[in-house]
Amino acid sequence: MTLEQKIADRTASVCIIGLGYVGLPLAVASAEAGFSVVGVDLDKGKVDMVNKGVCYVEDPYVKEHLSTLVSAGKIRATAKHSEALPSADVVIVCVPTPLDARENPDLSYLRTTARIIAQHLTDYKLIIVESTSFPGTTEELIRPILERSGKKAGEDFALVYSPERIDYGNSQFGMTKIPKVVGGLNTESTKLGAAFYSAILLARVVSVSGPSVAEATKMLENVFRYVNIALVNELAELHEELGVDFIEAIDAAATKPFGFMAHYPGPGVGGHCIPKDPFYLVYKAKKAGFNLRLVQASKAVNKEMPAHLVERLSKSLREKKKTPRKSKVVLWGLAYKDEVKDTRRSPSLDLLKLFKKTGFKVQVYDPYVPKISVGGSSYESASSMLDSLDGADALVIATNHKIFAKPEMSELKARMNTDPILFDTRNLRARKEAEDAGFTYLATGRP
Ligand SMILES: NC(=O)c1ccc[n+]([C@@H]2O[C@H](COP(=O)([O-])OP(=O)(O)OC[C@H]3O[C@@H](n4cnc5c(N)ncnc54)[C@H](O)[C@@H]3O)[C@@H](O)[C@H]2O)c1
Repeated sequence: MTLEQKIADRTASVCIIGLGYVGLPLAVASAEAGFSVVGVDLDKGKVDMVNKGVCYVEDPYVKEHLSTLVSAGKIRATAKHSEALPSADVVIVCVPTPLDARENPDLSYLRTTARIIAQHLTDYKLIIVESTSFPGTTEELIRPILERSGKKAGEDFALVYSPERIDYGNSQFGMTKIPKVVGGLNTESTKLGAAFYSAILLARVVSVSGPSVAEATKMLENVFRYVNIALVNELAELHEELGVDFIEAIDAAATKPFGFMAHYPGPGVGGHCIPKDPFYLVYKAKKAGFNLRLVQASKAVNKEMPAHLVERLSKSLREKKKTPRKSKVVLWGLAYKDEVKDTRRSPSLDLLKLFKKTGFKVQVYDPYVPKISVGGSSYESASSMLDSLDGADALVIATNHKIFAKPEMSELKARMNTDPILFDTRNLRARKEAEDAGFTYLATGRP
């Protein structure tokens, strides 16, 4: 039976390498579609949790289906590649692609994984790389390692790059509802990749002419986000100075039905993807003799946002004749985005370092993050949102968790010192309600 037929009738067995934010939802989507899935992860804790049906990522789709699929024997996990790879028909690589200490791409996880797959390239397999990287990675890095097995890409195995676009925690756009781009090494690879994703997704599959175009697609998407966030961050600073409400201007611009896509300013850029992916392309560009000036300029703007915020807050405290060094500042939100516990590259980490440098007395609160260590200090989340505010001079909202929009302003004010400041970096709360309750209101992009 051909692999195409096995995909069509769901008898193809799927091996997913790396059961993190990307790999676990993909394992669930594949099993939901009817495939038998074995996930491999070096982290034995994750392997155990999967085998017990316990979901450790904030993904409503995984939460809903994982335990049923594990109980039904459709998904199992192992820490040993040799228990999964030999019998797999489809192998999907979802390992990390971080930056190293010098902010260059760390491709070691991809290299190691390719070497391990090469040891098990016995029967014809479809190998798909989902980890984010720059154009050329699949053809110039992965392919030669796989071919060291003596097998030839395009003949003895199919090779595809298909970027992951998941926005975990997003209940509106779960993995299966996001269109998927597929670029294979040859026509057969692309055809098999497209057939596989068509089987597991509700959204459409977009085939492109090769892996490099698919890799370039992912780079474009995340450079677009990074540069546009920098644009609104820089313009936010300008309009704060000009005394013009820039958030209102963005909302108004967003009514234009074409040619504009709203991005909102904030305390910086966080997460595992947007702040690091553009630097994969910067690296590749440098190798090709190009300097990606827009990305570098965006980095400068995005990186300065936490310092800008702390300066503005300190100035406001001084205007109230309060010494920043003696002031208590409460930080609401440690995660980099709403309704998740993920603090990777969160702007709150930079804020905490700057708060310490300024000498603020700091209390943190995040319903998803019980404690955090940064810059040699540990911070424990207060027992409740309101308790965090006792005796505070300023409240900084750094993450747009929905819960932060709920309490009455008067309840917040009642817990705080006289003449308190609300610094809303996410524009969750309205100026009027804050000022009516007696707060000095500061917000990113607002005077
Ligand atoms: N998190 C996101 O929202 C997102 C979105 C799109 C793309 N991506 C990209 O997808 C890739 C994976 O990201 P993630 O967020 O899932 O990372 P993650 O850190 O959550 O998960 C990766 C997993 O791979 C495992 N691993 C590492 N080496 C391994 C090996 N040799 N064999 C088996 N398992 C191994 C790790 O233990 C970890 O559990 C990255 O390239 C990332 O840039 C992530």
